[in-house]
Amino acid sequence: MTSQIDLLVHNIGQLCTVPAHDGGPQRGHNLGDLGLLNQAAVAVHDGVIVAVGPDAALRDAYDAALVLDAGGKLVTPGLVDPHTHLIWAGDRAGEFEQRIAGATYQEIMAAGGGINRTVQDTRAANLSVLVKQSKARLDLMLAQGATTVECKTGYGLDTTTEIAMLNAIALLDTEHPVELIPTFLGAHAIPPEFAGDADGYVDLVINEMLPTVVTWQADHWPGTLFCDVFCEVGAFSLDQTRRILEAAQRYGLALKAHVDEFEPLGGGRLAAELGAVSVDHVVVTPDEDIRAIAESGTIAVALPPTPFSLAHTAYTPAQRFLDAGAALAIATDCNPGTGWCENMQFVMALAARYMRLTPAQALVAATLNAAYAVGRGTQVGSLETGKQGDLVIWNVPAYQHLSYRFGVNLAQTVIKQGRVVYDARPFLTIS
Ligand code: NIG
Ligand code: FE
Repeated sequence: MTSQIDLLVHNIGQLCTVPAHDGGPQRGHNLGDLGLLNQAAVAVHDGVIVAVGPDAALRDAYDAALVLDAGGKLVTPGLVDPHTHLIWAGDRAGEFEQRIAGATYQEIMAAGGGINRTVQDTRAANLSVLVKQSKARLDLMLAQGATTVECKTGYGLDTTTEIAMLNAIALLDTEHPVELIPTFLGAHAIPPEFAGDADGYVDLVINEMLPTVVTWQADHWPGTLFCDVFCEVGAFSLDQTRRILEAAQRYGLALKAHVDEFEPLGGGRLAAELGAVSVDHVVVTPDEDIRAIAESGTIAVALPPTPFSLAHTAYTPAQRFLDAGAALAIATDCNPGTGWCENMQFVMALAARYMRLTPAQALVAATLNAAYAVGRGTQVGSLETGKQGDLVIWNVPAYQHLSYRFGVNLAQTVIKQGRVVYDARPFLTIS
């Protein structure tokens, strides 16, 4: 007897199932377990994986409305990008030229450029412009294999525009195949009207923005909402970060933090102590903070496009995180200033070279562990029965190619919850 299902992807030459370890991320040097199967198939019904196994057995067991022949190629879970600033208006190409000529990111920020330049453009844009410009980036992310993407506010820095950014995220989540995970990042920078009064801005974030955001959530977003803070010299101090994260926690938001990008302020240890879901950047993190992160459930998210784009030589010290037993994920940090990159394949290529991750480790960091970094580890990030049918057929024979090659899109077919949502070929091969 055969069961009727929606989709069977078969003739998969190499299938990376990327299994969860003890119902969680792959930690420390156990990172890199791909759960490889050769000549395999994946069965999906009602958006959910119902079977993963040998090709012949699944072909016999299922009668699928759509049968996709993977042509002997590589199939992996849909990529998860757990840290992006997807929503913004305008660009900062001029600042890129200044940086290439020698100005530093912090100098440009101190002179009123940087994040506040994008804040100006974002405040001036209406919702449809903001959505249109952001959608173009989201289309690229999907076409390059990402099926779940975290997405921050933080270019409004006033209550009205921060809420407009959340509305843009909710709208794109509804209209676009990529699933978005929203993060409120009101504490991204000190806006010009609070120059010299960072504490005054922190009061606004805590007393006005957070309650408004929580009300917005009740009306618009049934899922998890994160709160993030940029803990850095020139942005928010450790004390200010603590005040904001503790207030967010009282409001029931889940926590994230940008820490140790340029200066080690202790934000990683603080966020781990508060039970943050992730700490991101973690480039100049001291060993004792790495230990504190590793001992917590907090995921360390490295953002290799950022040092690459800033032409810095320091990347997240991945080996020290793995030695300490931490769970490591990777993300694009897609943003107009420190790294305009929509491509998780390039993130894997960078992580292999500059963080010394093996191609297998880079892939797990971009799928299963990235899913845990956005609180979605039990739904996406691996190809296991009961999880969402989010997968990518790659135009390559084996997983190593995803880190080995770069600069072109290797994704052939992207499937979200059992539906083909992107195909690089003019016609589907349906057999
Ligand atoms: O993650 N570090 C803070 N925020 C972004 C940069 C945003 C921008 O420059 O517009 C980051 O690198
Ligand atoms: Fe960021």
